[in-house]
Amino acid sequence: MAEKLRHSVFIVSFMLCWISVSCYSETLPPSQAQTLLRIQYILNFPSLLSGLRNGTDFCNLQPSSSLTVVCYEKSITQLLIIGRKDTPRLPENFSIDSFVTTLVKLPDLKVLKLVSLGLWGPLPSKISRLSSLEILDLSSNFLDGSIPPEISSLTQLQTLIFDGNMFDGRLPKGLSSLSVLAVLSAKNNSLGGPLPDSLGNLENLRVLALSNNNFSGEVPDLKNVENLQVLNLENNSLGPQFPLVSSKIVSLVLKMNRFSYNIPENVQSYYQLEHLDVSTNRFVGPFPAFLLSMPSMTYLNIAGNRFTGMLFEDLPCNNELKFVNLSANLLTGILPSCLHSRDKVVQYAGNCLATGDQSQHPLSLCKNEALAVGILPHSKRRKKASKFVLALSISGSVVGGIVLVGLIALLVRKFLAKEAKKSPTRIIEEHASTGYTSKILADASKFSSLYMLAFDEVGRDLL
Ligand SMILES: *[C@@H]1O[C@H](CO)[C@@H](O)[C@H](O)[C@H]1NC(C)=O
Ligand SMILES: *[C@@H]1O[C@H](CO)[C@@H](O)[C@H](O)[C@H]1NC(C)=O
Ligand SMILES: *[C@@H]1O[C@H](CO)[C@@H](O)[C@H](O)[C@H]1NC(C)=O
Repeated sequence: MAEKLRHSVFIVSFMLCWISVSCYSETLPPSQAQTLLRIQYILNFPSLLSGLRNGTDFCNLQPSSSLTVVCYEKSITQLLIIGRKDTPRLPENFSIDSFVTTLVKLPDLKVLKLVSLGLWGPLPSKISRLSSLEILDLSSNFLDGSIPPEISSLTQLQTLIFDGNMFDGRLPKGLSSLSVLAVLSAKNNSLGGPLPDSLGNLENLRVLALSNNNFSGEVPDLKNVENLQVLNLENNSLGPQFPLVSSKIVSLVLKMNRFSYNIPENVQSYYQLEHLDVSTNRFVGPFPAFLLSMPSMTYLNIAGNRFTGMLFEDLPCNNELKFVNLSANLLTGILPSCLHSRDKVVQYAGNCLATGDQSQHPLSLCKNEALAVGILPHSKRRKKASKFVLALSISGSVVGGIVLVGLIALLVRKFLAKEAKKSPTRIIEEHASTGYTSKILADASKFSSLYMLAFDEVGRDLL
């Protein structure tokens, strides 16, 4: 993935260079120069803008890591102001409204990056008057309230980044009208509610990053987002269905959500998948060992779920695999030998493996826990029954009738007898399903395509 990202960074920087080379050296019209000076004033004269003075040739400023101004035909087309990390909120007299009113006086802006400047308050909807915007990045500020739905009238937008603010409310449904949007990132906010289905219409989307918010419900169908390469949904309340994405996915991060069931069979067709993190969810059922041998996989994290099943010494792994975390599941058997390698970080503590050096539970724990999923309805029923007996005995003692006490005794005896009949069946069921699981696991290493099908079957059984 690093390769691909580097590639896109290269293309973007090439485009930036091309635009700046075509930049005329004429000075800006006074109105745009005044606008920049006004921005400096509203931002309370941050030291990173100290180079701006009346009379500065703004279009020919040496670009720096904190300030870049690019002009084209006497108009500012790019404004990038990047403050220091952890810049505090601007003082009380800052007005986001007059700030944006000033910004929209630069009507030809294509790239606007205002990062770590202490901006605070609700983002005014008039930001949508910057109708030429292609890249908007307002990361690491203190913007709050909801994302204005008018954003979706910025139809040239290719990149929209709101990371590290305090936005709440939902993602606007109208985002789907941003037909050339390639990057949508709103990590580390307080956004919530369900994700709009219209995300599935963003045909050009490559990166969707919504980690560390409060989104809930199912992930909309993203199969038609054909070029989606990065989906990061870490730390929300999404699930239980595994997301539907295109087979071109490169990085899929579902960590810390409510995804459940097993990982579906079609994940096997994600031939470009390099980074898969499903840790700390509610996945259950046999560990889909094909994940280890997928052709592009370098990072695999399934820790903190209830994956079951037996691992084998000779399970195959992809050579490029560099990181594997299997910790805190219900795996038994032996760590595959392809994972014993000095160039790999492999963690597997908190399972029931027979492999020595990371702390393991006794085998019986994994077996019983794996079955617990299957027999849950039984234990619930039993609990109800004993509550009923308890309720009866309490009311019995209040009434104090001997007949009633006798009746209760009779009931209890009947109940116990029934239970005694029930338990042997349960034990047989348990044995039957363990036998089934390990048999399929054994066959699986021989018939890899049948493998997943069988896994799914067992997964459903365990549910
Ligand atoms: C805001 O208040 C600060 C002092 O806290 C002052 O220096 C600055 O000039 C004021 N800015 C505006 C835009 O009024
Ligand atoms: C900037 O300089 C011009 C003339 O050089 C002048 O007309 C204008 O008032 C000045 N603006 C500020 C804000 O000082
Ligand atoms: C692996 O997963 C365990 C359990 O979730 C976690 O405690 C551990 O930090 C993880 N290891 C790494 C290197 O991320």
